[in-house]
Amino acid sequence: MAFFTLKLSIFFLVLPVVQGKASCDYDATAEKYLLEDLNLYRMSLNLPNFTENNNAACLANNIASQLKNETCKNAFHYSSTIGTKPNVTEYDKLMDGCDIKENHTVQGVILPVCVPRLDPFLVLSNYTTPQYAKYLKNSNYTGIGIGSEDNWMVVVLSTNTSTGNFSGAASLIANVHMATAEKYLLEDLNLYRMSLNLSNFTENNNAACLANNIASQLKNETCKNAFHFSSTPGTKPNVIEYDKLLDGYDIK
Ligand SMILES: *[C@@H]1O[C@H](CO)[C@@H](O)[C@H](O)[C@H]1NC(C)=O
Ligand SMILES: *[C@@H]1O[C@H](CO)[C@@H](O)[C@H](O)[C@H]1NC(C)=O
Ligand SMILES: *[C@@H]1O[C@H](CO)[C@@H](O)[C@H](O)[C@H]1NC(C)=O
Ligand SMILES: *[C@@H]1O[C@H](CO)[C@@H](O)[C@H](O)[C@H]1NC(C)=O
Ligand SMILES: *[C@@H]1O[C@H](CO)[C@@H](O)[C@H](O)[C@H]1NC(C)=O
Ligand SMILES: *[C@@H]1O[C@H](CO)[C@@H](O)[C@H](O)[C@H]1NC(C)=O
Ligand SMILES: *[C@@H]1O[C@H](CO)[C@@H](O)[C@H](O)[C@H]1NC(C)=O
Ligand SMILES: *[C@@H]1O[C@H](CO)[C@@H](O)[C@H](O)[C@H]1NC(C)=O
Ligand SMILES: *[C@@H]1O[C@H](CO)[C@@H](O)[C@H](O)[C@H]1NC(C)=O
Ligand SMILES: *[C@@H]1O[C@H](CO)[C@@H](O)[C@H](O)[C@H]1NC(C)=O
Ligand SMILES: *[C@@H]1O[C@H](CO)[C@@H](O)[C@H](O)[C@H]1NC(C)=O
Repeated sequence: MAFFTLKLSIFFLVLPVVQGKASCDYDATAEKYLLEDLNLYRMSLNLPNFTENNNAACLANNIASQLKNETCKNAFHYSSTIGTKPNVTEYDKLMDGCDIKENHTVQGVILPVCVPRLDPFLVLSNYTTPQYAKYLKNSNYTGIGIGSEDNWMVVVLSTNTSTGNFSGAASLIANVHMATAEKYLLEDLNLYRMSLNLSNFTENNNAACLANNIASQLKNETCKNAFHFSSTPGTKPNVIEYDKLLDGYDIK
């Protein structure tokens, strides 16, 4: 009960920030606060915080976008517990897309909830129902990945053992490097801006989502003509289904 009082006071602060934004940065905010709240919940149980697991987050995002056209009626039907796969179309492909090997997922759990506009209080209430809370309370789960799309929030909990850490083969390392590569590029570009007496770039979540989509649309292309795919003010990039990529993120 103390947990819920604590949450409520946090959400009164969070809600005004969250409402009325485009879906992409709205989602990122909702995910961020859910992570914080789930960790406060873990603290209240004297359990260590969840650590973020990039592979699990990739899978959570893929599942959320697979679910986005489903109604909220049967959200529990799409969960999966130890040793089972979620009832999601093309689940194996979704795992592949995140470089996850199935043997590393057996102990993991996938917990989707569906709440209109991802109202943070209702999302958290759903995660603290006994059906899901029993996994949050289990010290075997040490890692977390969170993804969302439209009304769907997906939490993937991972263990720190090889049967549940959602790792892949060598390609996992590529993923980790990628996040690191992005981080250093941002830092370097900002140092470049500073050297020109220009203000730092601030991060734009909508733009980041679009950048990720374009990168995955381009991944099969050779490096030869990278400049061909750029776009400047008033032009669109030469990328297949560019308009769909935009629509997916409520960008005009
Ligand atoms: C655990 O997470 C909570 C919520 O984000 C944070 O306040 C706390 O500092 C974290 N504890 C540790 C040890 O990182
Ligand atoms: C969801 O519906 C939209 C519009 O009908 C469609 O373009 C999209 O492919 C659907 N997505 C999935 C994952 O079914
Ligand atoms: C899987 O989901 C579909 C709807 O997408 C539903 O009709 C079917 O009953 C579900 N199967 C199981 C085993 O839950
Ligand atoms: C996955 O686990 C099964 C059963 O333990 C084993 O037979 C199989 O070889 C494993 N696959 C890989 C790719 O490690
Ligand atoms: C979550 O909450 C919403 C609204 O309160 C409800 O419609 C839905 O059935 C609940 N369950 C899940 C698993 O999302
Ligand atoms: C944690 O994992 C171990 C080894 O798989 C298992 O024996 C134990 O029952 C699990 N603990 C809980 C609380 O699920
Ligand atoms: C895995 O997590 C358990 C429970 O939090 C912890 O006791 C153990 O030291 C961890 N093992 C590794 C290899 O991180
Ligand atoms: C998962 O476990 C395997 C085997 O213990 C290890 O090689 C790999 O680094 C782990 N991956 C993560 C993300 O913890
Ligand atoms: C701008 O970015 C650089 C590189 O990340 C950082 O060192 C610097 O503190 C930033 N300046 C401001 C005003 O945030
Ligand atoms: C940046 O501003 C500093 C202080 O105003 C000045 O000395 C320096 O020449 C400027 N550098 C550039 C590249 O404009
Ligand atoms: C890239 O190639 C893989 C394997 O051939 C294929 O499954 C995937 O759909 C391709 N992706 C794009 C964006 O063309």
